Amino acid sequence: MAELTQLSTPAQADQVLLANYNRVPVTLVRGQGCYVETDDGRRLLDLLGGIAVNLLGHCHPEVVAAATEQLQRLIHTSNLYFTEPQVQLAEALIKTAFPGRVFFGNSGAEANEAAIKVARKWGQLNRNGAYHILTLQGAFHGRTLATLAATGNAHYSDPFRPLPDGFRQLRKGDLGAVEAALADTERPPIAVMVEPIQGESGVFVLDDEYLRQLRTLCDRYQALLILDEIQSGMGRSGTMWAHQQAGIVPDIMTVAKGIAGGLPLGAVLVGKRADVLTPGDHGSTFGGNPVACTAALAVFRVLERDGLPARAASTGALLRARLMALGEKGLPIAEVRGRGLLLGIGLSRPLAQETARAALSAGLLINPIGTSTIRLAPPLIMGEEEIELAVSGIERALTQAQAAGAPS
Ligand SMILES: Cc1ncc(COP(=O)(O)O)c(C=O)c1O
Repeated sequence: MAELTQLSTPAQADQVLLANYNRVPVTLVRGQGCYVETDDGRRLLDLLGGIAVNLLGHCHPEVVAAATEQLQRLIHTSNLYFTEPQVQLAEALIKTAFPGRVFFGNSGAEANEAAIKVARKWGQLNRNGAYHILTLQGAFHGRTLATLAATGNAHYSDPFRPLPDGFRQLRKGDLGAVEAALADTERPPIAVMVEPIQGESGVFVLDDEYLRQLRTLCDRYQALLILDEIQSGMGRSGTMWAHQQAGIVPDIMTVAKGIAGGLPLGAVLVGKRADVLTPGDHGSTFGGNPVACTAALAVFRVLERDGLPARAASTGALLRARLMALGEKGLPIAEVRGRGLLLGIGLSRPLAQETARAALSAGLLINPIGTSTIRLAPPLIMGEEEIELAVSGIERALTQAQAAGAPS
């Protein structure tokens, strides 16, 4: 094999990688705790955590040790056989959430695809073959064709039409619209699928009462409630699962992102009512891989032992108050949305992109969404030092972006 290029510029990457991402022009070479390092030796505070993945920070020693040990023992088996880590992880997941059984895939989109298939089969068995699923405007459920249809955002899906049939988007917050859709006998819905906190569209929390009402309506109209906790779950919202703050139990929950400490893993937890899959219905060659499951077991252990969901709640409250105070000092912050350590800074001027660029120069990775939101999804282990760095860096970045004279 010819010698491979030592990547040094994003232009070189463009020669060989498809152009589907709008990447920040930095190359990351290592990470430790809340920080990552670039190929030119800069240390950056990672306030996005691999898009809400690195709950325990980068290269957490207990995750590394567990995965390394498993790498030396058994890497892959397929799902034709049982492995211990997969069964143990299913038990751990169920213990934190609700009684049920688990299917493992490798990503969020795959977890949602599986949830959609479970709901459709349930509809065939219990609702005379009905198949429509209600989702909300502002949702994000993934990039496969069915999850794009569930997402219902033309910007993501228009180039890839036709999409699978069977999804209807409803306006957020409008329970009357949900009830009317559930009562529709022409297109009877079998499920309502929502994120307790809509992360990708700008960090919008569905309030607890709204979630409780969705549960009630699903029960009344014989539909399943599917909660996509891919971004909001695993302690990030301040409780292990965001929906627990509403005191409800879904029929199906999907999980991915931070579950395996940065290794690819997705899961669907299916409660008894929706447990309809039989052998041959669904599968994945890699899903529930022993290395990823072992890493995930370490993540669950550390989250629980170190009380990280509660810590996310208190750190998030502090960070949020400090950010709001920047707004009171005249910087263009209108509001800070979210729960725990999933935060959306709503700007009063369309400066999100400029602010993220300035933040990078100031040593921070933050995530602009559209023109007026900055998303933060840092590791749950962030401490006082990181809060200070985050707040002072965001202050500097906003000041610079504002001074650059972007349109108000
Ligand atoms: C709520 C939600 N669902 C699904 C997904 C898709 O996950 P993945 O990118 O792992 O396919 C995401 C990713 O951002 C998400 O935030």
